[in-house]
Amino acid sequence: MVYEPAPPHLTLLARNPKKSYDFSMYPLSSRMENAKPSFVREILKVANRKDIISFAGGLPDPSLFDLEGIKEATQTALSKAPQAALQYGPTDGYIGFKEQVAKVMQTRDVPSLNLEQMLITTGSQQGIDLISKIMLDPNDVVLVERPAYLAAVQVFELYQANLMGIEQDANGIQIEDVERAILECKKAGKRPKFLYTVSTFGNPSGSTLTLDRRQALLEIAVREQLLIVEDDPYSELRFAGENIPPLYALTKDVAGSSEYVVYMSTLSKFVAPGLRLGWMLVPSGLMQPLTIVKQAADLHSSSFAQYVAAAYLETGRLEAQLPKIRAKYGEKGQAMIRALEQTIPKGILEFNAPSGGMFLWVKMAEGVDTMQLSSKAIEQNVIFVPGVGFFPDTKRTNYLRLSFATPSIEQIEEGVKRFARAVLD
Ligand SMILES: Cc1ncc(COP(=O)(O)O)c(C=O)c1O
Repeated sequence: MVYEPAPPHLTLLARNPKKSYDFSMYPLSSRMENAKPSFVREILKVANRKDIISFAGGLPDPSLFDLEGIKEATQTALSKAPQAALQYGPTDGYIGFKEQVAKVMQTRDVPSLNLEQMLITTGSQQGIDLISKIMLDPNDVVLVERPAYLAAVQVFELYQANLMGIEQDANGIQIEDVERAILECKKAGKRPKFLYTVSTFGNPSGSTLTLDRRQALLEIAVREQLLIVEDDPYSELRFAGENIPPLYALTKDVAGSSEYVVYMSTLSKFVAPGLRLGWMLVPSGLMQPLTIVKQAADLHSSSFAQYVAAAYLETGRLEAQLPKIRAKYGEKGQAMIRALEQTIPKGILEFNAPSGGMFLWVKMAEGVDTMQLSSKAIEQNVIFVPGVGFFPDTKRTNYLRLSFATPSIEQIEEGVKRFARAVLD
């Protein structure tokens, strides 16, 4: 096999980000000192090589896009309201799309909601940016999960926040650790600006916060006036077990808590990420500041995409598509677990079988460096994401994330064989 030079993501990570930019030539803002390149994006560059099997990306399986449905919806949008679909629109979103989102939310235990407290966003990634923009000053504290979603960490760091990790297990963030973090902040004279959590099928952890912990977290939110930012891109992708309502839906059971939950979700993982459509459900007091920063950022999310998505959701085709999506991810997740169990002796890897989502979060023995393992894996033509970047406030080198969403079952089986060779080398 031809030896490939070190992949770019490894060199980028090893580099001091400050030195990546010439601050004397271009006087960049101080926030750019914190702007590390996302190493998932860098790893994805290697992923494009034909001979590579990638467990690195979090991209949906494109064979699950409902192409016929989206084609039809595009035609409907263009024939029913062509001028509105191609025109500027309201900052908070097209009402017809909002109504369809409200129907999606009914399936997530939110029977009714006030559309004036819904902001349509350009993917939920924009939601993370907008909430950060209205909440964060440099050195503010944000509580994040350990491990945390990389691109959210990137946003918080761009706003120069101090990130404080909350320990997480298979049942989501640990409530005692939330209490510990709040206490620590109090001792330092700080109030955390918010706690960010991917409550269902976390990225990268795959874990889901239990009902009891959800209730306890809402109680803490009220008691401590702690804003919870709940990011929920994956809950539609449940392939095992019972649905658990989002924190947002549970606010009805905990007096006062609806003022402390900002919910965000997206069409990206169950319709198509190329539409770039997400939504935020927010307490009334935050709607205006969020609308102002949204307007300043992009005026509004694509009218055309919203009209297409509304037309698509109206057809009811999604109800037929969702079971296929869930079954396929379930099959792929199973295939990955089976292949790992068959090729790697017990005791070398530890992971919890997720009940949904796209990821398997793997722990290796203390002392293993999964960055180094990543280089060996690339020699075997397989890639994954080393875990170190998911821990912004602590260094843990012995974790890695495997995504089973994009590769086929055959590729999963072959890729795990290659991965096993790198592990057992
Ligand atoms: C936890 C989490 N939040 C947000 C996003 C961004 O999704 P969107 O395409 O809606 O911007 C992702 C995408 O991978 C994600 O995993």
